[in-house]
Amino acid sequence: MTDPRLDTLLQSCPGLRLKTDPADLEHYGRDWTRRWTPAPLAIALPGSVEDVQAVVRWANEHKVAVVPSGGRTGLSGGAVAANGELVLSLERLNKALDFNAVDRTLTVQAGMPLEAVHNAAREHGLLYPVDFAARGSCSIGGNIATNAGGIRVIRYGNTREWIAGLKVVAGNGELLEFNKGLIKNSSGYDFRQLLIGSEGTLGIVVEATLKLTDPPPASNVMLLALPSFEVLMQVFSAFRERMQLEAFEFFTDRAVHHVTAHGAPYPFAETYPYYVVTEYAAADEAGEAAALAAFEHCMEQGWVLDGVISASEAQAQQLWRLREGITESLARYRPYKNDVSVRISAMPAFLEEAQALISGAYPQFDVVWFGHIGDGNLHINVLKPEDSSDAEFLGQCEQVTKLLAQVLHRFHGSISAEHGIGLVKKPYLSSTRDAAEIALMRGVKQAFDPLGLMNPGKLFDR
Ligand code: FAD
Ligand code: MLT
Ligand code: ZN
Repeated sequence: MTDPRLDTLLQSCPGLRLKTDPADLEHYGRDWTRRWTPAPLAIALPGSVEDVQAVVRWANEHKVAVVPSGGRTGLSGGAVAANGELVLSLERLNKALDFNAVDRTLTVQAGMPLEAVHNAAREHGLLYPVDFAARGSCSIGGNIATNAGGIRVIRYGNTREWIAGLKVVAGNGELLEFNKGLIKNSSGYDFRQLLIGSEGTLGIVVEATLKLTDPPPASNVMLLALPSFEVLMQVFSAFRERMQLEAFEFFTDRAVHHVTAHGAPYPFAETYPYYVVTEYAAADEAGEAAALAAFEHCMEQGWVLDGVISASEAQAQQLWRLREGITESLARYRPYKNDVSVRISAMPAFLEEAQALISGAYPQFDVVWFGHIGDGNLHINVLKPEDSSDAEFLGQCEQVTKLLAQVLHRFHGSISAEHGIGLVKKPYLSSTRDAAEIALMRGVKQAFDPLGLMNPGKLFDR
């Protein structure tokens, strides 16, 4: 152990595991962004809530910054430790603690992977509905810290809707318990909601009481081929008016190009410019008939050129691979990601401006558009050309993000719909939140984390 402060940490917290091997520092010091060189002091792996408190108290004593770490699937640099911070990994705190059938809640430790939460809910005949492709690797604590969204927000909302209680170790090491599983609680400020989406800057989420709901309805998946961007929202309205949508996701031919090259099967004989994958309740003939009526209406209008409906669970999963596999298929190009949102009603006008801006700025670049269009959330991924240097590529992308942020400001949209601000979008926070709001955020941070040790430099600078 090189740093003597770490000896005192182990002495004060015998249950703790510490990792300092260069390979571990590298592994735990970064997230999916891969933009920063990891340089943490060490990795602390607590085995209990008391360990987490002891680590945070030690950090206060020695003025060491702490980076909370879940599955490190984050896309905004929130879990990056590049400045000698102590990474506090929740991976050993990964168990379900309690199921309450009457309340329909599941209490879990923060390091539990999202997929394990899904499985635990299913074992009780219920559903935890927040879902997305990183389910196998991301943690519920990370989902809470980023207010994660995903592919079922259109039906169930973000993580924020599903948290009935939280236990949090604040920046001074104190253990706080918020809302305690209550459905109704009008007793003042709701600190639980403040913690959701706080990106590790206020404290460490150690436990969460999750709301569960009825098991999902029998559903079908439909893949639609579209001629243009302009008809996207018309297709959305046609489907939403006629049926209960479980998901409504869009992507482009460039996304299909990459995801099929990565192994996803493609069901059509031809390629098309735009696609939608939608999942809808189809428990009975009425559900299926409504879907067919929506499809036929869109075909008649010329908004849809082709379509396929899943005939089995296996086929439904294959259709989903075309959408869910996109992020993995792009990873090797180290894409520059924008994750933006506007109100659904503003989407057609915003799409037009954003597309003109991006295609004007990046005529030579491979730009992949996809996202949760039914939530007003677009993912715009620009792939780094092989002959471009990291610095040159980043500079060009940041220039365009500046312009995009101005457009978003006019549309009252958000520079981060669901990935968080972290380091990546920190320069653009003021396009979405005004100065008075950011000042309030600083005040909240000061109250929870007086010494500024919880994930400093993420979201905003002190
Ligand atoms: P990490 O990356 O480890 O951390 C994220 C942030 O949370 C950091 O700021 C970290 O400091 C903080 N944090 C982590 N744990 C805690 C804790 N216990 N207490 C306090 N702070 C903590 N996101 C979406 O919203 N929707 C999607 O559809 C989606 N799809 C994805 C698909 C892929 C293939 C990938 C790789 C990522 C995707 N993401 C998506 C992004 C990412 O998975 C989510 O942001 C996820 O919630 C991060 O969880 P994590 O455990 O990996 O968090
Ligand atoms: C998704 O919707 O697939 C994710 O948010 C991941 C991404 O934007 O790459
Ligand atoms: Zn997404």
